Amino acid sequence: MIPLSLYIHFPWCIKKCPYCDFNSHKKDSYFDEATYTQCLIKDFTEDYARLGQNRKIHSIFMGGGTPSLFSAEALAPLFQRIEPYYSDNIEITLEANPGTIEHGAFKQYFDLGINRISLGVQSLNPRHLKALGRIHSVDDVARSIDEIKNAGFKNFNLDLMHGLPSQTLDEALDDLAKALQFTPTHLSWYQLTIEPNTYFANYPPQLPIDETLADIEDAGFELLNAHGFRRYEISAFARDNKRCQHNLNYWEFGDYIGIGAGAHGKITDRPNQKIIRTTKHKLPKNYLDPDKDFLSEHTEIEQKEQTLEFMLNALRLIDGFDLELISKRTFVDIETLAPLFAEAQDRGLIHLSNTHLQPTAHGLRFLNDLTMVVGGSA
Ligand SMILES: C[S@@+](CC[C@H](N)C(=O)[O-])C[C@H]1O[C@@H](n2cnc3c(N)ncnc32)[C@H](O)[C@@H]1O
Ligand code: SF4
Repeated sequence: MIPLSLYIHFPWCIKKCPYCDFNSHKKDSYFDEATYTQCLIKDFTEDYARLGQNRKIHSIFMGGGTPSLFSAEALAPLFQRIEPYYSDNIEITLEANPGTIEHGAFKQYFDLGINRISLGVQSLNPRHLKALGRIHSVDDVARSIDEIKNAGFKNFNLDLMHGLPSQTLDEALDDLAKALQFTPTHLSWYQLTIEPNTYFANYPPQLPIDETLADIEDAGFELLNAHGFRRYEISAFARDNKRCQHNLNYWEFGDYIGIGAGAHGKITDRPNQKIIRTTKHKLPKNYLDPDKDFLSEHTEIEQKEQTLEFMLNALRLIDGFDLELISKRTFVDIETLAPLFAEAQDRGLIHLSNTHLQPTAHGLRFLNDLTMVVGGSA
C-alpha cells in the first residue's frame, strides 16, 4: 500500500508578506472558524470516501496561510472526525506564526493530538523581520518557543530564510546560530526567492550577490552539520533523525489527500493504473460557497508526465532513492529510463548503482538541469 498523508490548508493570514506566493489572503469577512472547520470535515469525508482506499493516515500537515489563527477549540470537531483513521505513530504538524500565539494556545494544540510544530521564524534580526514585512518580533519567537517546549512538544521545526535583502554572510550565520540556541529538532533553511506576482516581484529588494549567497550556503551547511543537523533534502535539516515524515512522503511520491481552500491532493489508483491530482477552489469565497463542490480540478498525471513528476520530488532527497521506488510509485517502465540515467551520469549529475540513484553535489547545485535530464524533458 502506498502511504497516505493528509494536508489541510488554512488560507488566511494577518497580512500578506511581500515575498509570499502561497494561497494566503488577508483575514477578511469570510474568516469564520466554525464554518471553515465544518467545510473541512465535509471535504475530508467526501475525499476519504472517494480516494482513501481504506488506508490509515500516515501523517497530517496543517499549513497555510496561518493555521495558528484557528483556536484548538474550533479545530476540535475536525480532529474528532479524522482520529479514527490515524496510523500508529502518526506525525501531526501545525504551522504557527509567532505573531499569532496567545498564552496557552500551544498546550491546547498539544492536547488536541498535534505533536509537531513548525514555527515561521524567518529571521532573528529585527531589521530583516521588518524588511520581510513580518508581524512578529524576536521576543515573540523566544516566547513562542518557550510555550512550545512547556506544552510538551518534543519535536519542532523552525522555518528560516537566508539571502535576505542586503543580508551579509555574518548576519545570515548569526540568524542560524541564534536559531540553533533554541534547540529545535528540525530546521527548514530556505533561500529567499522572488516569486512572480508578489510585492517583491514588483518592487525588487537589493539581494546579496551570487558569491555571497554561495558563501552563506557553504558556511551555513557547515554550521548546521557541526550541530548534528543532517541535511536530508535541499532545504531540510534534522537532528536525531527527526525528519519530517509528511514532507518525506511528498518527496518519496506517496499519496495525499488535500483539503481546504486551494489544497492539492495526489492519489494512485493501482487497479486502473492511474495517478490522479485533485485541486480545491482556491479563493475562500468559492471554497465556502455551499452551491459549489470543493473540487475545482481533477486531472490524471499521464504516464509520460509521471517520470518528471516523480523526479521533481525524489531528486530533492540528498541520499537519493532506491530504483524500485519508481515502479512502486508510478506506472513507468524503468527500462525506458536507462538512456536518461546514462546521460545524467555522463554529465556528473548522479551516482548510479544497480539498485540506487543519488544526485552528486554537482547535480544538487544544478538541480533543475538534473531534473530535466532524468525526468525526460531536457
Ligand atoms: C507555507 S509558508 C507559511 C508559514 C507561515 N505562514 C509563516 O510564514 O509563518 C512556509 C515557509 O516557506 C518559506 N517561504 C515562503 N515564501 C518564500 C520565498 N519566496 N522564498 C523562500 N522561502 C519562502 C518561509 O520560510 C515560510 O515559513
Ligand atoms: S504569514 Fe506565511 S503564509 Fe502568510 S503571507 Fe506571510 S509567509 Fe505567506
